Amino acid sequence: MEKTFHITTFGCQMNEHDSEIMAGMLLERGYRQVSERRQAKVAIINTCSVRENADKRFFGTLGQLKRRKMAEPDFTVCVCGCMMQQQHIIDTIKTKYPWVDVIFGTHNISHFPELLEHVIQEKTKQIEILEDGRTDDGELPSRRMYQCKALVNIMYGCNNFCTYCIVPYTRGREHSRSPEHIREEVEKLVKDGVREVMLLGQNVNSYRGVSEDGSTWSFARLILFLAEIDGLERIRFMTSHPKDLSDELIDVFRSCDKLCKNIHLPVQSGSTEIMQRMNRHYTRESYMDTVRRLRKAVPDITMSTDIIVGFPGETEEQFQDTLSLVEEVRYDSAFTFLYSVRTGTPAASYGEQIPEEVKHERFNRLVDLVNRISAEKNAKYKGRVERVLVEGPSKRNSKTLCGRTDGFKLVNFEGSREMIGTFVNVEITEGKTFSLEGRVVEE
Ligand code: 5AD
Ligand code: SF4
Repeated sequence: MEKTFHITTFGCQMNEHDSEIMAGMLLERGYRQVSERRQAKVAIINTCSVRENADKRFFGTLGQLKRRKMAEPDFTVCVCGCMMQQQHIIDTIKTKYPWVDVIFGTHNISHFPELLEHVIQEKTKQIEILEDGRTDDGELPSRRMYQCKALVNIMYGCNNFCTYCIVPYTRGREHSRSPEHIREEVEKLVKDGVREVMLLGQNVNSYRGVSEDGSTWSFARLILFLAEIDGLERIRFMTSHPKDLSDELIDVFRSCDKLCKNIHLPVQSGSTEIMQRMNRHYTRESYMDTVRRLRKAVPDITMSTDIIVGFPGETEEQFQDTLSLVEEVRYDSAFTFLYSVRTGTPAASYGEQIPEEVKHERFNRLVDLVNRISAEKNAKYKGRVERVLVEGPSKRNSKTLCGRTDGFKLVNFEGSREMIGTFVNVEITEGKTFSLEGRVVEE
């Protein structure tokens, strides 16, 4: 059989990174990755369960694959990721899509090649879902999306149990990798051409890695340890929970040049009552205080956030609090979501679910505001010179290049292919809502 595979990835950067690892493992075993699913003998779907929309798209994709699988029995379909950590999803797949060949979860992606080989050789199905216990990152190969930048897991799972969120049930309890393991992985990446790492965790502020000498390290200390690596030029991270953003970390923003001056700080709502019903452990005042502390220490820090509209019981007045908080903070960008009921979470059984049309109407008002502010903030970049790590051709025009500023702004500009993977100085000629335009200038 021709050993070709294609991966469809839904969801967040953790899932993207898991897909990079799966690709790395298969490439090491002689498989070839193809860009179109119809050319692949093995289709892998890495799922997300954070909102219902992703569930629906997953089942839609399975529906599309059915006809091919019926006509071509040796076409192999593998499904994995967060949705597979939910029993009701496994039950649905077994009854409605019994032709799926491999099902595995988020804690055992290292077993995937063996499960796949077993299916191909023995023509049997393989299902393996573990409850917890992932530890083997860094030892696994990974096929990075970009040569010059890499995603690195520093911890797994989440202990926060925000009442709307399924992640603690699908990614298990929080545990941190050891600082030495993480450093080893980053050193290897830097030798392989990586200039920027994005450290990943559901809540990086609660990183507590146990070092070889038995001491427990904070996230701030981990950043300083990684910043010692020669050749590594930028460090970013995602995501920070506002409830425990330490002064120690704010100091590192100030003292460590390699730490990018950008933070994603999900607020979810502007109303203290809603924040508390979401189990977020902060208030509007304490969140605003964190924003002020950050801006006092690093005046030009860029900020983004996540906001949920239409949490159960959200009144028009409470939604207005969200609008006013957005006006007050003036985020560089914001991801906005319609509240989505997730079976098994506490908020799913709260009374007073908000009607869809009310959610949509609020959502549109919020998006208008967020976009207006993004455009205003980006317009101010005109004339500034920014240091940009060049990622590759632009998504919308392959003749131009794109890259990111230290503050994580996407910049499009004309340049030559040799610039990819290097830092260039770009003078910003125009600030748009979602990106900047610029031209390369000398030092
Ligand atoms: N409905 C809507 N948005 C959600 N998020 C998490 N769970 C839900 C849900 N049930 C959003 C939060 C989180 C982001 C990753 O997804 O804003 O920060
Ligand atoms: Fe979900 Fe809250 Fe954990 Fe983020 S911190 S993954 S929103 S439970």
